[in-house]
Amino acid sequence: MQKKKLKIKPKARKLLIIIGIFFLLILSGILFIHFEKNSLRELGYSENAISKIMHSFKTSYVKEVGENKTLNAAFESNDYNEKYLDQYTEIVYQDQKDIIKNINTLLEKGYSTDEVSLILSRGDNDDVNEFCKREEKVEYIEQFLNVEYSKLANYDRYVAYQNETNEDEETTVLYINLEFDKEDYVDPYVIEDFDEYVLVNKRRQLSSTYVPDDLVEIDEDYIKPDEEMEAEKSAVEAFYKMADAAKKEGVNLLINSAYRSYEDQEEVENLYLEAYGQNYVDNYVARAGFSEHQTGMSFDVASATEDVFVDSEEYSWMMDNAYKYGFILRYPRSKEDITRYKCEAWHYRYVSEEIATYIHENDLTYDEYYIMFLDK
Ligand code: DAL
Ligand code: ZN
Repeated sequence: MQKKKLKIKPKARKLLIIIGIFFLLILSGILFIHFEKNSLRELGYSENAISKIMHSFKTSYVKEVGENKTLNAAFESNDYNEKYLDQYTEIVYQDQKDIIKNINTLLEKGYSTDEVSLILSRGDNDDVNEFCKREEKVEYIEQFLNVEYSKLANYDRYVAYQNETNEDEETTVLYINLEFDKEDYVDPYVIEDFDEYVLVNKRRQLSSTYVPDDLVEIDEDYIKPDEEMEAEKSAVEAFYKMADAAKKEGVNLLINSAYRSYEDQEEVENLYLEAYGQNYVDNYVARAGFSEHQTGMSFDVASATEDVFVDSEEYSWMMDNAYKYGFILRYPRSKEDITRYKCEAWHYRYVSEEIATYIHENDLTYDEYYIMFLDK
């Protein structure tokens, strides 16, 4: 049987072709958008940013730039300003809520994109917000902010301190971050986020209730007779290792004092105050809350045979070897102006082998090391 051919009238055929082309166009449009979105997604742009990018016909611009977190933040933000498009791509991203608003403000004031990147990198969202409130553009902003551990919030204090002392930028930043423009013990920083690397000094205070997490009893072989002492486990284990190694060389290290609670420190302070007076206390004894002994990471080291520690073999051995076991002489003679204590030949702090080695090799105090590498 012969198949009957379906006959379509020419007019209808034309209509069908037009409809077909129309659908093809729509389909290719949809596919095009799909592929464009996908390539932006692959470059790390968010859905929010992608829809803004597409609506403002900046897809090819963004694709050419490639992955760029600041550009993504700009398109996500209600503060997006097209006239700064090129600048956004040059500014290093920081995870800050108002980053785009602040970038706009800083560019408006005449800061270069490099300067804006530097400003953003030296503070958090609040610091940058505060900095943006300045009426005048700061000239030579990089002078202090180029120092890696500078803080935007301290900017005016750097300027004032340098004007007063003529110190170079690096020293100025270090000293101000250590709060040398403030009096010892007055309005100190109160340590909330304690960890084993904590820095405690005359301007950084532990709360009266702070007790370390991991206090352990120190074995009697390592302490002065008839005493009981505790300290942080990691520091105690490192001390055992050090003392055992020293013993093999005929050097007998003992611990004279280890963890001291807030109340213990108050007692020590009062004892020395009565015996030697305020001047001695200011030079050698921390006020309660300001003693490293409350961290459980410090030891006063003694010799088993010699009463005066600096005259002992143990002292010489510690000077040469303590860093290999993670300990540093915390208050050295050459750094009294930084530690604000007179040299204490006996007071050692456990900071880990890596940090102790760095401090030993670079002749630093823990105060300096902390500001340079650990301060957030
Ligand atoms: N002797 C040191 C400074 C202290 O009391 O913690
Ligand atoms: Zn001590």
